[in-house]
Amino acid sequence: MKTLHIAVLPGDGIGPEITHQAVRLLQRLAEQGHFALELDHADVGGAAYRSSGHPLPEATLRLAQQADAVLFGSVGDFSLDTLPRELRPEQAILGLRKHLQLFANLRPAMVYPELAAASSLKPEVVAGMDLLIIRELTGDIYFGQPRGIRILENGEREGFDTMRYSESEIRRIAHIGFQAAQKRGHRLCSVDKANVLETTQLWRDVVTEVSSEYPDVALSHMYVDNAAMQLLKNPKQFDVMLTGNMFGDILSDEASMLTGSIGMLPSASLDANNKGLYEPIHGSAPDIAGKDLANPMATVLSAAMMLRYTFGLEASAVALENAVRRVLATGPATADIARPGLASTGCSGMGDALLAALG
Ligand code: IPM
Ligand code: MG
Repeated sequence: MKTLHIAVLPGDGIGPEITHQAVRLLQRLAEQGHFALELDHADVGGAAYRSSGHPLPEATLRLAQQADAVLFGSVGDFSLDTLPRELRPEQAILGLRKHLQLFANLRPAMVYPELAAASSLKPEVVAGMDLLIIRELTGDIYFGQPRGIRILENGEREGFDTMRYSESEIRRIAHIGFQAAQKRGHRLCSVDKANVLETTQLWRDVVTEVSSEYPDVALSHMYVDNAAMQLLKNPKQFDVMLTGNMFGDILSDEASMLTGSIGMLPSASLDANNKGLYEPIHGSAPDIAGKDLANPMATVLSAAMMLRYTFGLEASAVALENAVRRVLATGPATADIARPGLASTGCSGMGDALLAALG
């Protein structure tokens, strides 16, 4: 039997509650004999800063490197936002992405029928929407050098960052995008700002070159401003969207709102060997932290992505996804997905319901 060595990094805010529920479900699958589990927990983000003075301590990074996969809760703590940038909680996730070379970020955004009415758009615009955003995660203006705040000759301050992509960085994420499209609807929309930015002209050129290896995938290109508009106008036109780091950050938050609840959306960040970090795309939600109110479904669905992408355990992944579907249909519901007629519950009650649905 396969032993899954997973680093569990709960992080800040609601992170500990939601990862705890996902771990309970993984443990149930292990009890049922699908795999053996080796779990190691460590602090990350603000929690790690408080316990050891750094958001990504050496020991946490080493654990993440040694494990087969990382289950990540969330990081972020407003009370630490005045720290120097390198000590802020967000640096933990950026550091993990960089050190583990997790360049491929998969963010599926689908509308469950039960939640179509909860979307900020009309139900008929979003019902049936099922798109996958593939975001490059270790390059672009997020990591480009030089960057900083400097003093100009006239004495005023100037902030600057560097947008950059090498050809090989674009090529490897493009392959991920085309291969994902091959497994879905065979359509890939590459997002850029090639009308203004040189970096993204190269992006468009390289993606077009790579497309010749995938004749069964229909490639289109879209400027990022138009993509933001089209997501609101007709989100069902998209199958797979391929983006750089910055544009994908923005568009994936936009897409999440179309689905009815940001509490439902999982993500995977993969390296070249399918080792991955799995996290819900919502943040640490400090306003509801510790109150047993958070929806753990996005984390459970992230665990399902882990079983699928890193461990190749498709049946176990589907078992988790089906448990989520069943509870969505019958309740109980956390506040973010509440509907008339459904009993209400909290984070741990949702974990209980998912366990029952898993059987
Ligand atoms: C995300 C988040 C991160 C990002 C932050 C927390 C650094 O917004 O995963 O989308 O900007 O990538
Ligand atoms: Mg973001």
